[in-house]
Amino acid sequence: MTFSKTTLALAIACTLCGTAHQAVAADPAKPFTVLTGAWSNRALDPDQRSALLLAQMTQDEKLKLVISHFGSDFEPKGTKKHPKALPHSAAYVEGVPRLGIPDLFETDAGIGVATQGSGKAAPRERTALPSGLGTAATWNRELALQGGAMIGAEARASGFNVMLAGGVNLQREPRNGRNFEYAGEDPLLAGTMVGLQIKGIQSNHIVSTLKHFAVNSQETGRFVLDARLDDAGARMSDLLALQFAMEVGDPGSVMCAYNRVNGVYACESNYLLKEVLKQDWGFKGYVMSDWGAVHSTVAAANSGLDQQSGWEFDASQYFGGALREAVENGAVAQSRLDDMVKRILRALYATGVMDHPVAEGGAIDYAAHALVSRSDAEEAMVLLKNSKKLLPLNANVRKIVVIGAHADVGVLSGGGSSQVYPVGGMAVQGLEPSSWPGPVVYFPSSPLAHIRAQAPKADVTFHDGRDAKAAARLAAGADVVLVFADQWIGEANDARSLSLPNNQDALIAAVAGANPNTAVVLLTGGPVTMPWLDQVGAVLAAWYPGSSGGEAIARVLFGVVNPSGRLPATFPAAESQLPRPLLDGDRENEHKRFSVNYFEGASVGYKWFDAKGLTPLFPFGYGLSYTSFGYSDLKSEVKGGNLHVSFKVSNKGSVAGKEVAQIYVAPVKGGWEAPKRLGGWDKVDLAPGQTKQLSLVVDPRLLAMFDSKSKRWRVAAGQYEVMLAQHAGDTQASRVTVSLPKRTLDARGKDVK
Ligand code: BGC
Repeated sequence: MTFSKTTLALAIACTLCGTAHQAVAADPAKPFTVLTGAWSNRALDPDQRSALLLAQMTQDEKLKLVISHFGSDFEPKGTKKHPKALPHSAAYVEGVPRLGIPDLFETDAGIGVATQGSGKAAPRERTALPSGLGTAATWNRELALQGGAMIGAEARASGFNVMLAGGVNLQREPRNGRNFEYAGEDPLLAGTMVGLQIKGIQSNHIVSTLKHFAVNSQETGRFVLDARLDDAGARMSDLLALQFAMEVGDPGSVMCAYNRVNGVYACESNYLLKEVLKQDWGFKGYVMSDWGAVHSTVAAANSGLDQQSGWEFDASQYFGGALREAVENGAVAQSRLDDMVKRILRALYATGVMDHPVAEGGAIDYAAHALVSRSDAEEAMVLLKNSKKLLPLNANVRKIVVIGAHADVGVLSGGGSSQVYPVGGMAVQGLEPSSWPGPVVYFPSSPLAHIRAQAPKADVTFHDGRDAKAAARLAAGADVVLVFADQWIGEANDARSLSLPNNQDALIAAVAGANPNTAVVLLTGGPVTMPWLDQVGAVLAAWYPGSSGGEAIARVLFGVVNPSGRLPATFPAAESQLPRPLLDGDRENEHKRFSVNYFEGASVGYKWFDAKGLTPLFPFGYGLSYTSFGYSDLKSEVKGGNLHVSFKVSNKGSVAGKEVAQIYVAPVKGGWEAPKRLGGWDKVDLAPGQTKQLSLVVDPRLLAMFDSKSKRWRVAAGQYEVMLAQHAGDTQASRVTVSLPKRTLDARGKDVK
C-alpha cells in the first residue's frame, strides 16, 4: 500500500491520536507505556513512519538520539561507561521507551562481532571471517553477501542492532595498518564486495555502517592529517568505492573519518557530508562520527553530522548540552536537529530495527558459521607462484617440515577495534603489544594439525623458525617444506615497510637455500615484498584467514580446494615504486599536523603502475590455479546506451576450478587518469573441459570522467578498447574495440537528457 502526500499529511496531523499500550518494561521497577500510532503501521514507508514518529518526540528525546556513549570497560579521561552498554561494545545510544524507539547497541566491525579490549567481563567468543581484503580476493559476490549475513546474525544474537562494518577505504597506501579491514585498490571491486557485505549484515534487521568517509588512507597521524585530493580525482576513486558500496548495500549509516580532507575535518566537512553524500548521492540514512572525530558543535551539525559517537573520546559532549544551546540560540536550526533524528529513525525503520527488536542471548550455530568462514578463506587464497607443480601436495608425501608463524597452533588476525575474540580463545598468549591496538591474536585453527590430517601417513615436523640455521638444517631432509610467514598490522599501526618483519625474509631465504621444494604461506594484512621469490617453489597469499584459517590453508595446499583468489591490490616490487616511497607523518608524534598530498588523484594501485610504466611484483587481479583456463569469443556492443560484453571461458586442465575473468576498458585515444580501468568481472566454476558463456554490463561511470564544475559524469564519444584479461598485467588479453556515443550522467550515474 502506498500513501499519497495528502494521506501522509493527515496521518501527521493525527499524531496525537496515538494509542497508549502498557508494555513489559525492561526494568520492572520503572514501568512505562508505549505509545503506538500511525508510525507503527508497517504499510507506510520509512520516510513516512520516521516523520510521524519525529512529530511525537520532545526536545530531550531528540537530543538523546544524537549522541552515543562508549561501551567498553576502557573509560577514557575518567569517564564512566554507560551502565546499559553491552560489555566490550563500541557504543550505546539511549532509546525512547515510551515511543518504542529501542536502545541502540553498537559493535564493530567487518570481520565479525568484535570484542573491545581491556574488558573486565569475560570476552565474547565469536566467528571471524577472513580479513576484508581476503574476502575481496575471492572476487565472489555470493561469499561477500553470505559472510555479511553470518556476522550480522552473530551481532543480532549478541544483542547488537548496529554493526560498525562496511570499511571500504581504497588502498592508496599499501602500508596502511587497516588495509586488512578494507577491500583493496579498485573502486568497482571494493565497492561491490563491501556493499554486498553490508547487504548481508542488514538482512538481519540491523544497521550496518559504511566507513570511513573519506580518504582515511593511513593510520599514522589519522587524527590530524589533512588528505589533499582534488574533487574529480576523489569522485573517480575513493569516493566512487564508497558510492558503489552505498548503492549496493544501502547502509543505514555512514561513519565519517578522523582525518581532514582538503583542510576540513571529515566530520564537519560540508563538502563531504552535505554536498557529496546527502545531496549528490541522495543518502537518506544518518552520519555517525568515528570515535574521537568530532571537533565542534555548530560546524559539525550544520555540515551534516547526525550523531556524535562515543563522545567520551572527544574533547566535549558536542552533541549534548552544547547542541541544545546551539538550537536554542539559533546557531543550529531546529529543522537540522529534526533532520538528524529523522535520519536515524528512518534507518531504524528501513533496516527493520524497529519492527524486529534485538535481544541478547540468541543461539549461534558456531559449526555452521565456521564453514561460512572457511569457504570465504579458501576462495580468498591467492596462489602467486607454483613452479614445477610443487602444489598441490600429494597426500602420500613422506616427510613435511612446517616452519614459523605459530603455524603449530593458529593463524594471525589484524589488530584494533575490529578484533574478534575467537571461539576457543587465543592460540598464543603473552605477545606484545598486549594492549591497544593489541592484543596480538592468533585464532586457534592450527595449520599443522590440518596438514597432518591431510597427510596422515607423513612424518610432519614443526619448527618455530626463530633460529633460521636450525630451521634450514631440518628443512634439508624434507620432501616438502612449508614456511609460514606473517605480518601483524592493525588500527593505529601502519606497517613500517613492505618487508616481512622479524627477519622472516632471512628465514625463508635460508630454508629455501637448503631445500628448493619450499612453499611459502603468507599471512599478512596487505602486500609485502619477496626478496626470496626466485628461490622458493611456491607462494600462497592466505591474508588473515579467519576462524577456520588453518583448515582452509591445508585444504588448498593439498588440492582439496583449487585456489581461485585473485589479488585485490597490486604487490609492489619495492617502496620506491609508490607515489609516496616514504609514508608521510611521524608515528612517534601523532598529534603533529601534516598533510598528505594525493597528487596521483584517481590513479590508484594498478592505475598508477600502468600510468608510470612500472612492473610490480604481482599485478592487481593476479592469481594461479591448479588448472588452466582459456578465453574466446569476446564481443562487445552498445545496447540501450550501455556497454554489454560477452565472452567464453573454458577449463583446459584436468581438475575443476574457478576462474575470475576480468574486463578492462580504455579509450583508444587515452586521456584518463590511467591507461585502463576494471570495467567488470565474473567468477565462474568450471569442470575439466567445460566452457561457459558469460556476459556483463559496464557501469557507465567507469567509462566516464567526472567533471567537478557541472557535477556530471561525461563519456566522450569515440573508440574504446575492451580487454578480456586474467589480471591487470596480462599481455595476452583479448581485445575488441567498440564505438561509444557521447553520454552525460548526473552525480548518481543517471542519464541527463
Ligand atoms: C575506529 C572505527 C570503529 C570505532 C569504534 C574507531 O577507532 O576507527 O572504525 O568503528 O573506533 O570502535
